[in-house]
Amino acid sequence: MVRAFAPGKCILFGEHAVVYGHPAVAVAIDSGVEVELTESDSWTIEGMSFEAHRHPHISHILNDVFGYDGVPLRMEISSGLFSAAGLGSSAALSNAMSAAVQRLTHPDDEIDSVQLARIGHAAEVKAQAGRASPTDTATSALGGCVVVSGDIVEGAEHVFDASLVTPEGERKWSICKVNLPPEIDAWLVLGFTGIGSPTGEMVAGVARLLERDPSKHADMEAIARITQAGLTALGAGNLEAVGMAMDACHVRLQSLEVSSPELDALVEAVRPHSLGAKLTGAGGGGCMVALTDEPQRVAEAIEVAGGTPLISRLGAEGVRILA
Ligand code: PMV
Repeated sequence: MVRAFAPGKCILFGEHAVVYGHPAVAVAIDSGVEVELTESDSWTIEGMSFEAHRHPHISHILNDVFGYDGVPLRMEISSGLFSAAGLGSSAALSNAMSAAVQRLTHPDDEIDSVQLARIGHAAEVKAQAGRASPTDTATSALGGCVVVSGDIVEGAEHVFDASLVTPEGERKWSICKVNLPPEIDAWLVLGFTGIGSPTGEMVAGVARLLERDPSKHADMEAIARITQAGLTALGAGNLEAVGMAMDACHVRLQSLEVSSPELDALVEAVRPHSLGAKLTGAGGGGCMVALTDEPQRVAEAIEVAGGTPLISRLGAEGVRILA
């Protein structure tokens, strides 16, 4: 039997702008996905018969990546993440599954998080019709705080590059890590609106808005500046400045029309107890995130305002084998 865990992620800065080559900053969160594989006499997943075409990520990892030809497996998956909420649950599943299959097939090899990030990205691409940024898989594999950008970002340590030929042309990313100061004494509280976040639709909506109203490009440029300022503040452990940058980012995302009344209501509800708050991920639904030193009060405020809270440290450890 082997058990592996991979964390979810939360984008602190740069969503949507990253689609236009600007940097995005994401942190791994405490909650994630656990995979348990047990040798068995039939292929099952979550107690049901395993049908490869219904699980393209998993069959890609088993067959194409690891060429698994061992005995059938009983696969159990448990997730502490809201799904379709921008928390990277499918990337966490890919990473935890890859780590578990790697341990099963190559028990003496060390877990290589960069290799797993690449495998996870390829699995996401396979499952998402050729379009997936490496943000979720890289953050879940590497853990900590990750910057994904068209260019190498100052003040961050370059880890690897990724590229992809998408239906719209070739895209290239540089993936860097930022060392968070160990003394950071604050929490993230995510608030799920209960509404799924349609990433593809939101990205397409922003593209249409920029075409209709080119003045909105100023919001993209502003998000890029805010991201750089937020990154500098994070590296220095200046949490007040991080919070201010999050607030400023939310205003720009509202201007890009990706917030929603539900997200705005949760952001407003947490402000009295937060250093900063914004929507996180594609918007439209999904989650907001607050930075705070009063996580319980913020969680209560989110519940009172109709959301579901999830408390996390900033920058959890990446993918790992549990047993
Ligand atoms: O909600 P998520 O985690 O799928 O966030 C998407 C982030 C975007 O910048 C909106 C899209 C992308 O591909 O980076």
